[in-house]
Amino acid sequence: MAPLLDVRNLTVVFDTPAGIVHAVNDVSYTIEEGETLGIVGESGSGKSVHALSMVGLIARPPGRIVSGEVFFNGRDLLKLPEHELCNLRGKEIGFVFQDPMTSLNPVLTVERQIAEPLRRHFNLSKTQARERVVELLDLVGIPNARARIGQYPHEFSGGMRQRVMIAIGLSCNPKLLIADEATTALDVTVQAQILDLVRDLKKKIGTTVIWITHDMGVVAGLADTIQVMYGGRIMERGPVDAVFDDPRSAYTWGLLKSLPHGGKRGDTRLYQIPGNPPHLTSEPIGDPFAPRNAFATERCLTETPPLKQVDDSVIGHKAAVWYDLRQERRAEEAQP
Ligand SMILES: Nc1ncnc2c1ncn2[C@@H]1O[C@H](COP(=O)(O)OP(=O)(O)OP(=O)(O)O)[C@@H](O)[C@H]1O
Ligand SMILES: [Mg+2]
Repeated sequence: MAPLLDVRNLTVVFDTPAGIVHAVNDVSYTIEEGETLGIVGESGSGKSVHALSMVGLIARPPGRIVSGEVFFNGRDLLKLPEHELCNLRGKEIGFVFQDPMTSLNPVLTVERQIAEPLRRHFNLSKTQARERVVELLDLVGIPNARARIGQYPHEFSGGMRQRVMIAIGLSCNPKLLIADEATTALDVTVQAQILDLVRDLKKKIGTTVIWITHDMGVVAGLADTIQVMYGGRIMERGPVDAVFDDPRSAYTWGLLKSLPHGGKRGDTRLYQIPGNPPHLTSEPIGDPFAPRNAFATERCLTETPPLKQVDDSVIGHKAAVWYDLRQERRAEEAQP
């Protein structure tokens, strides 16, 4: 069966006074129906820009999609006229934005904002839409939902606004839900409830999910597949267990070692990846992580490694590397 989403060679730049920002570089991947894909990577790695570009939501200009195709259910989203894309957004592809403070309209009630896509896509009457809004707010755990639907975003706390965003993303039972840092602003207990809710929805209606987060722990608990991004590229991807147990990109390994207990047993210090993420204003040449990678070879600096199946691991475990990290890992493990 064809994948639900098939992203091919997506490249996105921003034209800025400081130069061209190479935000997304030649990103290709697929998601099967029902799959949950967790996307991780440090700030500025292109997670949000790549997702927003797929559904026509980056500002153009300064944003510019240089190349690529994004097939959703067989149709290239990048070629759809705006009104068709608009019909798809919200209905078939639900999006939870990273910043609920700026994404909710301050002058509209919460009811209006959740009901709008429902009324537009399903022709619901005002009363029918209201019932669905109450149901959705209940679902995302907003207490006393019926009494609160007439309130404005500023009357909700940050965590509550985040839940409203999630309710909007889920409102039309989308085939694909793209959630960008959807639980980052929430308390861990609320985050756990939202993650349960997503698992539940997957079971009930088989939603396919792209979950973008900084939190490797969330990915471990929620996703089938993990995709690690850096410098606008995919560095590694594969089944969660395979990538966690046997990372092949030094960047993935660094992220794993930065987790509490990710280092050696009994070692309570947290590992930090040295250096900072790259400035994306220079031409993307070579492995973007090479300048921060002690194991990088000459070739890593000059030639971009393709993302390809790694040796001796499960099918679908891919990494973009010129070195064999297994030797480096063994050497480090052998140290006292
Ligand atoms: N409107 C814009 N103009 C110029 N550069 C931009 C714009 N939006 C994003 N960028 C740049 O694109 C790159 C990728 O940004 P993106 O928001 O996708 O990162 P991210 O991985 O989502 O990070 P975070 O984890 O902080 O959300 C960054 O270097 C960012 O500065
Ligand atoms: Mg982001």
